Amino acid sequence: MSFSLIGTGSAYPARRVTNDELARLVDTSDEWIRARTGVYERRVLTDESLEDIACAAALRALEDAGVAPRELDLIVCATIRNDYITPSLACLLQKRLGAGCMSMDINAACSGFLYALDVADGYFARGRIKKALVVAAEAMSKMVDWTDRATCVLFGDGAGAAVLSEGNDLLSLRVTASGNAEHLGIPNIEGECPFSLRAGKPQHVYMNGQEVYKFAVNALCRELEAIIDAAGVRQEDIAFVLPHQANTRIIDAAAGKLRIGAEKYLSNIERFGNTSAASIPILMDECRRKNMFHPGDLLALSAFGGGFTTGACVLRWCKQS
Ligand code: ACO
Repeated sequence: MSFSLIGTGSAYPARRVTNDELARLVDTSDEWIRARTGVYERRVLTDESLEDIACAAALRALEDAGVAPRELDLIVCATIRNDYITPSLACLLQKRLGAGCMSMDINAACSGFLYALDVADGYFARGRIKKALVVAAEAMSKMVDWTDRATCVLFGDGAGAAVLSEGNDLLSLRVTASGNAEHLGIPNIEGECPFSLRAGKPQHVYMNGQEVYKFAVNALCRELEAIIDAAGVRQEDIAFVLPHQANTRIIDAAAGKLRIGAEKYLSNIERFGNTSAASIPILMDECRRKNMFHPGDLLALSAFGGGFTTGACVLRWCKQS
């Protein structure tokens, strides 16, 4: 027994930040950002908390699924940076939603939503749960160096959620990791221990863009091929690909290498930027609410990110439009 995905939801901050606004903060331009990344604008938290948008996304997904919070057996949140180190975002949500189930966070950077699906899948496989809520929520704006033009233009804040129930619509799922802190990372606080001899590092995203780019294109193609193969279907059978929204050029480069039409690769990066783990569930929810998916459609999800991690799966869409 695995799961079926029976509801989606998403939420994001009200504040839009355009490329022109960023060009007033750092030496960049709307033209450069659009051409190199595909991003036109992103959402940024102002007076909302991460918990607020995570909760809004969760409530929409629960409503879409027709599931009450009390029915949940598991909440898994994927996030790089909860507002608290403890309690977890999942525990904060559990209280806000009025759920009573086990709750935990996982951190697999931009691959977090796929890792969270994999965790949930294990509980379904062991017969431990009947309903699960997976929420990916990120506050990238709190970790970006707003004086660094190479990174601050890329990211945005947002949350996406999915409700899972017992079922057989997950055809394949694969997660990987290859430890690498050299090319992409975000240091944590060092603390104030009077005995520590270590100097703290700036708590900002650092990235070697070109190395991450190479890893990302390679990972996106390789993992899509692997999970489509593992699902026992042909690349031509995939109705839509939902790739992690990191950069339009990464998606375009990967699309050219597989036997899946470029029109099947979905994207909303122009309006949200890279929302890390939240990017795929936000995209999924937008497309679902536009009635783009039909029962029986095969969706291929593929993410890559800090770690380096990857996560990919093939899902059969089971909801009516
Ligand atoms: N505006 C104007 N110029 C800029 C900006 C900017 N915002 N950022 C960098 N530049 C400049 C650089 O300084 C450099 O100038 P120079 O030639 O005078 O030295 C020039 O543009 C080219 O810089 P590159 O880094 O070579 O630019 P590139 O074409 O590689 O694009 C980018 C940079 C967009 C970061 C690209 O490498 C990329 O997308 N990499 C993948 C990054 C990614 O996916 N990050 C997500 C991280 S987490 C995750 O989701 C995996």
